Amino acid sequence: MADRAIGIFDSGVGGLTVYREIARQLAGEEYLYLGDTGRVPYGTKSPSTVLRYAQEAAAFLVSHRVKMIVVACNTASAVALADLEERFRLPVIGVIEPGAHKAVAVTRNRRVGVIGTEGTIKSGAYTRAIHAIDPQIEVVSVACPLFVPLVEEGWAEHPVTRLVAEEYLAPLLQHDIDTLVLGCTHYPLLKPTLRSLLGDDLTLVDSAAETAKSVREVLHRDHLLRLSPPAAPRFFVTDLPTRFEQVGGSFLGDLLPNVQQVEIG
Ligand code: DGL
Repeated sequence: MADRAIGIFDSGVGGLTVYREIARQLAGEEYLYLGDTGRVPYGTKSPSTVLRYAQEAAAFLVSHRVKMIVVACNTASAVALADLEERFRLPVIGVIEPGAHKAVAVTRNRRVGVIGTEGTIKSGAYTRAIHAIDPQIEVVSVACPLFVPLVEEGWAEHPVTRLVAEEYLAPLLQHDIDTLVLGCTHYPLLKPTLRSLLGDDLTLVDSAAETAKSVREVLHRDHLLRLSPPAAPRFFVTDLPTRFEQVGGSFLGDLLPNVQQVEIG
């Protein structure tokens, strides 16, 4: 079991930020990554549709005999994690709880902001996860639907993105938050822009980095750390690989080898 791959899925290319963090912290593992590029975005779709897509993506990874499933997509984690945990008999890790734990640990004034897709914010999943740890924390959430296309356009640090960010962040700043959870796969790439707007006193919580720590802890706890030499990662997509390779390459700062188109569901 320990020598099987770690399965990671996302609606598309964004989950590569999560893959990058996990692969950095656990270089000796083998990875299977599925980007559901034929059906992206998940963030604007209804919970029942996202649930079905997530079930199909997870089933694809399980059919490839992975030892663990990482739900890299915040929207899918928000609506489908409990269902996937029940459905599959292997560890399933989402990105919401690790980010929520970190936010609770670092906030000093107990005012936390959360940004994400419409689906993630409407689900209230981050607020629930934070309140499960500390109900006294004030959570202010804002959906930022324009961030995903801007980042995929390669405009993470463009002046247009800065203007958009100013609009989105205004209500959060009115609440005097001291911590901001980046609740979407694409947002780690916005850190320089957000940092320049928010200053150094506000803590940015990167769900991707926190999730990688959880993956490491669970593998360690369950004695599932790989013993064989590492194998090359494999990438699967549900549409033509070209755009995934281009945008994904810029996310990773590296070429994406072995991208294969598959049908799921
Ligand atoms: N991966 C999604 C998330 O983290 C963002 C892209 C989408 O809407 O599918 O919520």
